[in-house]
Amino acid sequence: MEQTISDVAIDRRAITPLFRQVYAAISASIVDGRLRAGARLPASRELAEQLGLSRTVIVAAYEQLLAEGYATGRIGSGTYVTHDLPERPAGRPRAAKTSRTQRYGAPRLAGKVDVTLQSDDRPFNLGRTLIDQRTADQWRRLSARALRAMAKSHLGYGDPRGSAELRGAIAAYLAGARGVRCDAEQIIVTSGTQHALDLVVRVLLPAGSEAWVEDPGYPLTREVLAAGGVVTRPVRVDAQGIDVAAGIAAAPRARAAFITPSHQFPTGVVLSMARRLQLIAWASASDAWIVEDDYASEFRYGGRPLAALQGLDARHRTLYVGTLNKALFPGLRAGYLVLPERLLPSFVTTRYLMDRQPPTLQQDALAEFIAEGHLASHIRRMRSLYRDQRDRLVATLRRRAGDKLDVEPPDQGMHLVAYLREGLSDTAVERAALENGVVVRALSRVYVRARPRQGLLLGFSGYPTAAIAGAAGRLAAVLQRPRLLS
Ligand SMILES: Cc1ncc(COP(=O)(O)O)c(C=O)c1O
Repeated sequence: MEQTISDVAIDRRAITPLFRQVYAAISASIVDGRLRAGARLPASRELAEQLGLSRTVIVAAYEQLLAEGYATGRIGSGTYVTHDLPERPAGRPRAAKTSRTQRYGAPRLAGKVDVTLQSDDRPFNLGRTLIDQRTADQWRRLSARALRAMAKSHLGYGDPRGSAELRGAIAAYLAGARGVRCDAEQIIVTSGTQHALDLVVRVLLPAGSEAWVEDPGYPLTREVLAAGGVVTRPVRVDAQGIDVAAGIAAAPRARAAFITPSHQFPTGVVLSMARRLQLIAWASASDAWIVEDDYASEFRYGGRPLAALQGLDARHRTLYVGTLNKALFPGLRAGYLVLPERLLPSFVTTRYLMDRQPPTLQQDALAEFIAEGHLASHIRRMRSLYRDQRDRLVATLRRRAGDKLDVEPPDQGMHLVAYLREGLSDTAVERAALENGVVVRALSRVYVRARPRQGLLLGFSGYPTAAIAGAAGRLAAVLQRPRLLS
């Protein structure tokens, strides 16, 4: 018997590709027994029509279901729910309740985030980096040294904030490079931005509380807030960064503002001095917190890096979030959270309850890597390499697809935004590019309420110039096709 599929909720703005959303909905229905073993899935064309999606999306979802054994048969001549799944208890499962005050519940999280997205290493996926031979050699040497030492201090439990040596090295680096005002006592070593944001949610933001997020903005900030039951209030971003007055008007009682002031994600805009001061004044008057995500600020190409907002905040309302996963490599999983002193006890306790402390051996290698100056020189070398990669990407796009997009070289960071012309649809380009082995992210997906612009987010830091030229050429060829209009 053919089953109808009734509860596929598609979110076109979500970062999760459409086919994954369809796949997740159908596989969940199979697992919880709403779709019975042996049931015939609707023809791909029919389901495409029902959901208002293209048939290619449904075919990709069915292919995934077939590949993972949820379904059998062949697309085109009948796809059936497999008989091989274990028996389900009779009766329809009760829908799990979600409420505004629920945190981290499975129904809240299921299918929300595509956890495979960032592991794709093809150009121009975001968030990838390069390391050169020198850095690789130093890293091996220092890691081997830590392993050989296997000191007593490596073997036991330690300070939940991380080792004093690493925190000291980070404090010195931040004072010099980012104008952050802190001493080592205020630092908690984390596994990166995502870990730091999660800690902030757990400690400062009860479920049901409100927080400002930038619109457009970084999806993983929104998602970690939503996972913790926090109500996100999108605040528009203009040429001066987040519009603080609009935030105050829309959500004056928000407990926190999550911002990327030195290089707004994704637009690259720098938060103006007037807005920085306005934000600090709002936070201190309303007892709210500013969470400054200073990702990729090391890579500034036109002049010296801009100082962090934290250094300007004499009211101590700012929590500074930094990452080494961008300055070095994402697999490192190391970053830091710089806290106002009075928040330390609750953060330290929470960290202890989560995972006790960071691993000791890697901390030693990292502390020495920073203290011996290798981080600073790695950043200098990569800055020049990434600048060349950025320029190669911009030049190729302008030459090969200048009639289809507008692209300016960003002053900072590891990605650029290419704005599409002539009503081209960024999600259509995203799909077509992927079919040709080029990973681009549709800009419109990272908007929430603000009117989305059509554009492509292209990471340039993780790919040698030769790979960049080739992939940019393939992207340009895709852009010349008809049928990419919105
Ligand atoms: C806005 C933003 N912040 C932070 C990060 C880094 O995250 P993590 O340190 O968890 O790797 C990224 C990476 O893509 C990012 O885009």
